[in-house]
Amino acid sequence: MSSASTSTLPSVPGTDPTRCILDSFRISIAKRIAEALPSLTVEQVYNGVDYGKKGEDFTVALPRFRLPGKVDEHASKVVSSFQPDEWVQSVKHDKAFLHFQVNTASLFRQVLTQVSTLTHSTTSGKPEYGENKSGEGKKIIIEYSSPNIAKSFHVGHLRSTIIGAFLANLYKACGWEVISMNYLGDWGTQFGMIAVGFEKYGSQEALEKDAIKHLFDVYVQVNKDAAENPEVKVEAAKWFKRMEDGDEEALKNWRVWRALSIKKYTDEYARLNVHFDVYTGESAVGREWQDKALERLDQMGLISDVEGAKLVDLEKWKLQKAVLRKKDGTSIYLTRDIGGAIERYEKYKFDKMIYVVSAQQDLHLAQFFKILKLMEFPWADKLEHVNYGLVQGMSTRKGTVVFLDQIIKEAASVMHEQMQKNEEKYKAVEDPEGTSLEIGITGVKIQDMAAKRINNYAFSWDRMKSFEGDTGPYLQYAHVRLASIARKNPHLLPLPSPSSIKVELLADSPHARDIVFLLGSYPDVVKTALKTHEPSGVVTFAFRLAHVISSAWDVMVVKGEEDVEVARARLWVYENARDVLGAAMRLLSIRPLERM
Ligand code: ARG
Repeated sequence: MSSASTSTLPSVPGTDPTRCILDSFRISIAKRIAEALPSLTVEQVYNGVDYGKKGEDFTVALPRFRLPGKVDEHASKVVSSFQPDEWVQSVKHDKAFLHFQVNTASLFRQVLTQVSTLTHSTTSGKPEYGENKSGEGKKIIIEYSSPNIAKSFHVGHLRSTIIGAFLANLYKACGWEVISMNYLGDWGTQFGMIAVGFEKYGSQEALEKDAIKHLFDVYVQVNKDAAENPEVKVEAAKWFKRMEDGDEEALKNWRVWRALSIKKYTDEYARLNVHFDVYTGESAVGREWQDKALERLDQMGLISDVEGAKLVDLEKWKLQKAVLRKKDGTSIYLTRDIGGAIERYEKYKFDKMIYVVSAQQDLHLAQFFKILKLMEFPWADKLEHVNYGLVQGMSTRKGTVVFLDQIIKEAASVMHEQMQKNEEKYKAVEDPEGTSLEIGITGVKIQDMAAKRINNYAFSWDRMKSFEGDTGPYLQYAHVRLASIARKNPHLLPLPSPSSIKVELLADSPHARDIVFLLGSYPDVVKTALKTHEPSGVVTFAFRLAHVISSAWDVMVVKGEEDVEVARARLWVYENARDVLGAAMRLLSIRPLERM
């Protein structure tokens, strides 16, 4: 067999066969068509080489090139000049389409070698298969999670956390320098309320034990007081004004509350496999730019004074009117976002900044993006809002979810009970607590990322814990099963170097071919996700892979195969499949399990 070599193919901008070998197969297809139809360039054709429907590897829809003359004639030219080679095996003409099958032997050799090399032999020492360099030299800030201290952590924050963590991994995988940022709601009149309430209900001990819960409790209590006694709100507003004026005495406790809350959050995020480079918050936004924004908009005639409060009029852009400053002079959410964005640009000089915030705040985000544009900041168009829909029905058996740790605990215990139902299996699990926690979290994440972000969905614990259907537990199970093959076949290990594995022996197996082709497509899945900011494409890929593996399972056996060379080649396919499935899961912020 002649070994396919990428050097004989032209290079096409935006492709990188050293990281995505399917690029070579597509370029080879494009090259043939461009040779048969000389008015087209390889690059033009390349952009029209799509994945085929079931049974076809790649398909080109000829009409998209808008060539003069008849489609049939163009197709015949391609078909009659066709010669199979190490890249492409055959072509089929069907109406306006040309379908291509790639050369199976080189598909196997090239894809599996690339997966192995980019997983186990990279200079970074880390698995890199699926990654690309498109973002090299560029910096992005991704702001996500951003809960409010002393208020509840609702499912909207959970979605932001899950989607944001995915985006951070995704941008890193595409070569970007990523700054993960958590913008806490750590400022505002509620802190005046807590300060007032803390004098009456606060406990240092409870605070140290669980700051998030204690501050929430104090806040609930003091709000009850305020409902009966209007004086409480007045006191609170006074207190917050002192904080805004930088009165150290008024700020002292607040600093401790904030620090302890962050500490608690950091632990919980770690359990979710989520990390932040920067914890900042509304409190950190300086006054300077908030004032300047107001001035600038005033000069533009967009500000009106309503009983001392300042309003910006964005009706012209169908973005309504918005308050920028209250009448007591304290700042508000919107103004802080304007000032915050400007400060972030000055500090980080980002090439892009993403805000992962619920679609309920579409108007808010649109307003402050618009204001930054009106202020003519050249970087204003580098901001992007990644939004998402609502989740219904996520409550624990004890009631409504208020805290992140309740969600985590419930996911773990629901999963734990589920696993105990299978007594035999359960006994074999080394660390049932840790394992059920991990699978439970996977279940929550998969349910969240399975559909388009903007869709609302109803959360279901039954679905989340199920090992059947496209669920988190099923995905972990698929990975565990793959991980077990090597353990069960020590006589085949270590596998020889890729070039010595006789993968041609599998060329007749449609199961192996399906798996390998999918593995080859993973770098494209990553690229598409970067364009759409949708985790669902990666989730879909992971399940497709899990399904083709599960269909291969009983047919493409390793244990019990007498021909050692065949067994090795099969094992190699499974090992690569496990590496790619693991990579997809990690991209989704999931920790793939080795055993369960
Ligand atoms: N803390 C806000 C909330 O819970 C979310 C913050 C979103 N980010 C922003 N830059 N506005 O609603």
